[in-house]
Amino acid sequence: MSENKNILPQLPYSYESLEPHIDKETMLVHHTKHHQGYLDKFLKAIEGTDFENVYVNDILKDLKIIPEKLKTSIVNNGGGFSNHNFFWEILTPNSTKEPEQNLKKEIDIEFGSFTEFKKEFKEKALTLFGSGWVWLVLDKDKKLKIIQTKNQDSPLSIGLKPLLTIDLWEHAYYLNYQNKRADYVDNFWNVVNWKQVEYLFNLYIK
Ligand SMILES: [Fe+2]
Repeated sequence: MSENKNILPQLPYSYESLEPHIDKETMLVHHTKHHQGYLDKFLKAIEGTDFENVYVNDILKDLKIIPEKLKTSIVNNGGGFSNHNFFWEILTPNSTKEPEQNLKKEIDIEFGSFTEFKKEFKEKALTLFGSGWVWLVLDKDKKLKIIQTKNQDSPLSIGLKPLLTIDLWEHAYYLNYQNKRADYVDNFWNVVNWKQVEYLFNLYIK
């Protein structure tokens, strides 16, 4: 887990280690340019405000407390910073390829099977228009849901607990997959850190 500070986290693996599913150049640019860019703009937006020393997720959890003039920048850039912090943690070069134990059982109950779950997740990824993210979350009733978010909107802002996500901005896959989003989604399953997803599930389900 990354520490709760507004700094760019180190990746828990090397840039090339997710190849061939996600290529080194994409990872490098994604982390050092895009992620860093969101962080820089977010820090600039909160500089000198009451939010200067508040962790991004704590701000995103309650958008009502943000003054109107800061809202767009915090939602877009704070959201971009936060979403990528989360995304790196649910990827790994050593994927077990599927969940085990409690989460596996819950996925079977909620979606019918792991295969059906992946089908729905992919369908949500392919029908998301433009840029955004698809998430597996726990809702307020602690039920598993697959949701889409637009741009850099955070599921934290609508009271959801994120477990898994895929970045569907073209910067996440265009170098390797061009416009073939479906292939990117299919290969994404090879690098999912189900241990981390399961860890979060067990943490939130209590
Ligand atoms: Fe991204």
